[in-house]
Amino acid sequence: MLIRPRRLRKNKKIRDLVRESKLSKDDLIMPIFVDENIKDKKEITSMPNQYRFSIEKAIEEAIEIADLKIPAVILFGIPKYKDPIGSSAFKKDGVIQRTIRGIKKELGDELLVIADCCLCEYTSHGHCGIVKDGKVLNDETLDILTRIALSYAEAGADIIAPSDMMDGRVRAIREALEREGFEDTLIMSYSAKYASSFYGPFRDAADSKPKFGDRKSYQMDIGNAKEAMKEIELDIKEGADLILIKPALAYLDIIKMASEKFYVPIGGYSVSGEYAMVEAAAKLGYINREEVIYEILLSIKRAGADFIITYWAKEMAERL
Ligand code: PBG
Repeated sequence: MLIRPRRLRKNKKIRDLVRESKLSKDDLIMPIFVDENIKDKKEITSMPNQYRFSIEKAIEEAIEIADLKIPAVILFGIPKYKDPIGSSAFKKDGVIQRTIRGIKKELGDELLVIADCCLCEYTSHGHCGIVKDGKVLNDETLDILTRIALSYAEAGADIIAPSDMMDGRVRAIREALEREGFEDTLIMSYSAKYASSFYGPFRDAADSKPKFGDRKSYQMDIGNAKEAMKEIELDIKEGADLILIKPALAYLDIIKMASEKFYVPIGGYSVSGEYAMVEAAAKLGYINREEVIYEILLSIKRAGADFIITYWAKEMAERL
C-alpha cells in the first residue's frame, strides 16, 4: 500500500498539526438577556445554567465575559412595558440603552457590544413588526427599527444586529446611521433567519412568543436554500458588514453555501433549541456533553462560519 490516510491520524500531535478547522476564543459571541423587571438574576427553565440578568448584574456578567477574553456579547432586552409598537425599545433610558452605557463605561473597547434590534420582545402582540388587521406591516416597521438602531448606536453599541426579517431594513438602518454620524457603527444582519422551531426556549427566555399566528410571513421557509442566498445578497447590497445564519446546526449547508459565495464575514447562531437539546440529553446521560458541544461548535466553523453566537461561549472560553 502506497497511500495510508491513517498515517496522518497516528497520534494527537500529527492530528492537531493537520486539523483543518479550529475553534478559538476569538470566534465566540455570548448572548446576555437583560430583564428590567428583576433584581439580581433568574435561571431560564428551559435553558439550564443560562440567566436573565438585572441591568446591574448584566454589566457584571459582561465584565466576567471580557475577562475570559471573549471578544463580544449580544444583548436581548425584556422591558417593563410593552405596547403595540414596541416603544420601550427606542427609549433613551430603555433597558438595553442603559445596559450598553453601563458596559461601555466599565469596559470601553475591551468588549464589543452587539445590540439585537427587533420588536418582538417589546410589542404586546409579540410580533417583530407593527400589526394591522392581523398582518405584520413591512414599511411601517422600518421607521421604528431605525429609531431603535439609532438609540442603540447613541448609547454606544459597536454593532447593530437587525433580527426582524422585514424587507429593506438594513438599508433603512444604514442610511440613518450614516446621516446621524454613526458611520463607524457596524451592521450584523440576521440575513438568513428561518421560521424555526428551534427558537422555543429563547421565546420563554425573552418573553417574546407571538400572541397569535406565527412568524412564517417574515422569517424564511425551512425548505429553502437559494432564497437564503438572495436574502444575503440583498443585505450586503444594502450595507450589511457581517451576516448571520440562524439556526446553525440544522442549516450547516446554508453556512457552507454562503461562505463559498460571498466575501463578507459570516456567523452561525447556535440557537436556544440546540442548547436545550444537548443539555437535556446530557442530563439523562445519553451523550458526552463536553465532547458533543465541542463537536457542534467545530462543525459550524468547518461549514465555513467565521464566528459563532453560542450560549456555551463562556464555558468554551474556559475550556479552550
Ligand atoms: C428576535 C430573536 C429571536 C432569536 C434571536 N433574536 C427569536 C425569534 O425570532 O423568535 C432566537 C435565538 C435563540 O433561539 O437562541 N427576533
